[in-house]
Amino acid sequence: MSATNRGGERAELDAFFTPEPLAEAIVEVLKTDGYLCEGDRVLEPSIGLGAFVKFIGSEYTDEVHGCDRVLRKPLLELWEKSRYVGDLCEGDFLQYQEQPFCCIVGNPPLSEAQAHIEHGIELLEPYGSLAFLLRLNFLAGIERGAFYEAYPPDAVYVLDKRPSFAKVVHCTEKKCGWRVILPPMEKKPAKCPKCGAKTDCTGSDACEYGVFVWRKHPMRGHEPAIRWIKWAERYKRWAKKLRVEQKKMMEET
Ligand SMILES: C[S@@+](CC[C@H](N)C(=O)[O-])C[C@H]1O[C@@H](n2cnc3c(N)ncnc32)[C@H](O)[C@@H]1O
Repeated sequence: MSATNRGGERAELDAFFTPEPLAEAIVEVLKTDGYLCEGDRVLEPSIGLGAFVKFIGSEYTDEVHGCDRVLRKPLLELWEKSRYVGDLCEGDFLQYQEQPFCCIVGNPPLSEAQAHIEHGIELLEPYGSLAFLLRLNFLAGIERGAFYEAYPPDAVYVLDKRPSFAKVVHCTEKKCGWRVILPPMEKKPAKCPKCGAKTDCTGSDACEYGVFVWRKHPMRGHEPAIRWIKWAERYKRWAKKLRVEQKKMMEET
């Protein structure tokens, strides 16, 4: 698959994967604050490569399920290696009917976020929780007033560091128009593969993000708490480790 096609697929399905240290920090907070408990039946909808379930750990809870429109190879390999007894389902999460779950966690496609929240809450057992990574501006919008009246979150965790899901690399030769979306840590090609001109790079997302958590009951009239997730330091350590590994790999080849 060409790099351009990969960019197309990523954008089409909102396939922007959560950076590992962020998913790890979110899972830790959910455990500490009692939203995710040992032995829980868990679902990661729109699972992508399994960013969150990777950090839940099969010794913590082994009944972990996943759903995505596309079941990608790295996810299937993760499932094979793990001891999860849950299923992976290929299809539209909005049609997914397996239930009930104690905890649903993930990073939904932004274009369908509200529908994923409403459907996810349907699949929870009473007092179960749903935690989604969303842009903070999901708090606002004309249609959100009625939504939050019906579904007040239990808490919103603001991230201390803005996550970077991808970087957009483009050709500096305007007429060429070549452009690709890459994971944030992937090295950008120095030259455009289409015309050979220099490339340049911009971050893909200038938004602040947060983790929104809902409890199935009680919902109406609940006042949400605002808390913070500190993951900036963890990200720095991870990025440094990754750079060292990449350098080592390049020296070996
Ligand atoms: C934003 S990515 C998040 C992936 C993963 N949860 C993570 O955090 O890295 C969204 C994922 O949703 C999938 N997707 C998009 N629309 C979907 C739908 N209606 N039902 C199921 N999966 C969907 C995409 O294939 C992609 O893997």
